[in-house]
Amino acid sequence: MRNFLKNLLPKKNHFIGVDIGAYQIKAAEVKIVDGFPEVVNLKSIPSPKNVWNGQIDEENLVQALKDMANPVLKEVITCIGGEKVVSRVVRLPYLSDKELESAAKFEIQKFVPTPVDQLIIRYVRLSDAAFGALEAADKKGEQEGQDVLLLAVPLTTVYQYHSIFSRAGMVVTAADLQAFALWRVFGRNVRGTAAIVDFGAKTSHFVLVKDGVIKFVRLLPVGCEVLTDFIMNTYDVDYQEAMRILEEVDTALRSDYSQESRQGKEESPEDLTLQMEEAAASLENDYYAQPTGRTVKQLRDVISEITKELRRSLSFYFTQENIAAEKIILSGGMGHLKGFVKEMQSSLEIPVEIGVPEIEFAADKAYDPVYAISIGLALRELII
Ligand SMILES: Nc1ncnc2c1ncn2[C@@H]1O[C@H](COP(=O)(O)OP(=O)(O)OP(=O)(O)O)[C@@H](O)[C@H]1O
Ligand SMILES: [Mg+2]
Repeated sequence: MRNFLKNLLPKKNHFIGVDIGAYQIKAAEVKIVDGFPEVVNLKSIPSPKNVWNGQIDEENLVQALKDMANPVLKEVITCIGGEKVVSRVVRLPYLSDKELESAAKFEIQKFVPTPVDQLIIRYVRLSDAAFGALEAADKKGEQEGQDVLLLAVPLTTVYQYHSIFSRAGMVVTAADLQAFALWRVFGRNVRGTAAIVDFGAKTSHFVLVKDGVIKFVRLLPVGCEVLTDFIMNTYDVDYQEAMRILEEVDTALRSDYSQESRQGKEESPEDLTLQMEEAAASLENDYYAQPTGRTVKQLRDVISEITKELRRSLSFYFTQENIAAEKIILSGGMGHLKGFVKEMQSSLEIPVEIGVPEIEFAADKAYDPVYAISIGLALRELII
């Protein structure tokens, strides 16, 4: 019946994805132009303070969303941020939909303390064609069972979310998962194995994709704020100043690496640190020259802590499946910090590239890595 009605109704061809991040709210509008999806608008505004910490600051969030709203396109696709959604990939035997529904409830109770009647529980068969399997159902996999992604979110959070958007004059047509949004933007055509990582301010989404199929997802409890918090605490400066120092250190890390690749020679870690300190010390601002030199060294340690989280997720999957990711496709605010990205790459010893979405952009719109999730949300109804 639903499909019948869907076929009768005119097909919508214009969608907005809204990603409420801890640092900023991002909205992406995607429209079908000449038969292909095209990003026609991108907007961002700062999120209300502590938007995902404990209680959501509803009033400020409603106000912020009102500022983002498109008066003629009220329906939005969004995702639930922070650490509110619990997701877990489990291997289960082949089950009917009905059986899988009960199995999902049973499995969820193993890792979510909230009673199941207070949760919305969903499951997704990861090898479904709808999730982009490049190959047909894997016969070997059929014998061994199937990977199922289990999702659980408190009912109260979902109600609260719908109410916040509706008070801002918007209608949530779907609440999607960040991992699926990232997969739509970067993962569908991956050959081999790649990890897509969106590094936000407080959290990061890790999605492992093999031959176009999601294999594993994880929410990492780290983001760029680890870097700015470190600078603010160490140098007793405000956020703006911390960002300025962060960008300065990033420039030092970038210039060092580009120098290294120009010369094409191998450097020891000690040499690199020394060169970076020199690069930082030669920056124009005398007042910060010395602290920046020291900060480069300290921030390299902070980034290596972040990298450790990534390595843990990569080795978890490797231990389970004996499959190593061949590269990392990166998005989120960290995508602006190319020096730090290089630093991650050298420590992980696999290529880390800033993802390039496989989608057109209107002539006056340019891609920025912070929009990856919002673009992927808007694509939900446009591509399978
Ligand atoms: N040039 C930049 N522009 C925007 N953010 C930047 C830039 N450089 C670094 N950042 C950092 O990126 C983070 C914002 O990235 P992003 O928008 O992906 O986060 P978010 O989605 O709001 O957070 P989360 O995903 O944790 O909820 C901030 O911590 C900010 O300090
Ligand atoms: Mg984010």
